[in-house]
Amino acid sequence: MRVLVTGGAGFIGSEYVRMLLASGNSDPADPPVCPSAVTVLDKLTYSGNMNNLTPVREDRRLRFVQGDICDPALVDEVVAGQDVIVHFAAESHVDRSIAGAAPFVTTNVLGTQTLLDAALRHGVGRFVHVSTDEVYGSIDEGSWTETWPLAPNSPYSASKAGSDLLALAYHRTHGMDVVVTRCSNNYGPYQFPEKVIPLFVTNLLDGGTVPLYGDGGNVRDWLHVHDHCRGIAMVQEKGRSGEVYNIGGGTELTNKELTGRLLEACDAGWDRVVPVADRKGHDRRYSLDISKISAELGYAPSIDLDRGLAQTVQWYRDNRAWWEPLKETGTAVVG
Ligand SMILES: NC(=O)c1ccc[n+]([C@@H]2O[C@H](COP(=O)([O-])OP(=O)(O)OC[C@H]3O[C@@H](n4cnc5c(N)ncnc54)[C@H](O)[C@@H]3O)[C@@H](O)[C@H]2O)c1
Repeated sequence: MRVLVTGGAGFIGSEYVRMLLASGNSDPADPPVCPSAVTVLDKLTYSGNMNNLTPVREDRRLRFVQGDICDPALVDEVVAGQDVIVHFAAESHVDRSIAGAAPFVTTNVLGTQTLLDAALRHGVGRFVHVSTDEVYGSIDEGSWTETWPLAPNSPYSASKAGSDLLALAYHRTHGMDVVVTRCSNNYGPYQFPEKVIPLFVTNLLDGGTVPLYGDGGNVRDWLHVHDHCRGIAMVQEKGRSGEVYNIGGGTELTNKELTGRLLEACDAGWDRVVPVADRKGHDRRYSLDISKISAELGYAPSIDLDRGLAQTVQWYRDNRAWWEPLKETGTAVVG
């Protein structure tokens, strides 16, 4: 099986590539996806990083193509001969989308359409579209099932909703084999230090302060990136065509509770926290119902937040050479 991974040099895409290429000698909890070839198509924007693929660089099954998913000629060439596309490439940071929405619409909507057209032309077996729980908007009580109406609030989530619906439309209109995943907030190693967990951890490890939005009461469901990728692999292998699968089931925390855990993990006190004005249009709470993927595909998260956060903080302690150069290009905002 030949797999094309777009955005495979980013945080989650690179975890997926590392997981795919480790199949057979990895965690027995990992789904057995054994590709004969993995092609990564990535533009290497500020958040794409070849160092994320260092652990699998020597694997002969891996081919890296630097390029834009909005480039029809390149996409056509790369998509030809693929059995499966797993589509991660996106502009991914909400705060950047508030500062300027154009690249979000271009990459997330037009780029996805360019890939879908190429997949249709070449008869690719399956298109896995990686979406986000942010397409549902914000929920005060209860949890979203996959049939919940989409009501995105930020330019980022609106552009993701556009691409999510386009992918489903290619299934309904053209009969393409499309599956969509919608996941909650991810954390783990190799996450660009503009998102809240790596931003806070690296600031604290450097002896600095951390910016906490508003009253700190916004709630997010935190899922380890490896559990997200396990869920995607299950959907890739066994998900029903045309279906959407929520992936979550980590731990819901307010930003203030999360900050408390990160301060503790980094041996720092609340004097290091600087309250900042709330993000415009800040979604209050995200919460996913994961009964569908659990019942149909046997998914359950395997890494609890305490263990995952401890491992993640340790990873940032051990890998200064990875993140120190990136801090200069990151923005000091909460993701
Ligand atoms: N981070 C999360 O918590 C989270 C949660 C749910 C879903 N998602 C989705 O998962 C996917 C990956 O997110 P991430 O956190 O790894 O993001 P990321 O920003 O770390 O990685 C995005 C990757 O896409 C590449 N890219 C951007 N524009 C491109 C283009 N035009 N052509 C080719 N490559 C391009 C970048 O170079 C980068 O390698 C996104 O689609 C995002 O919406 C993320």
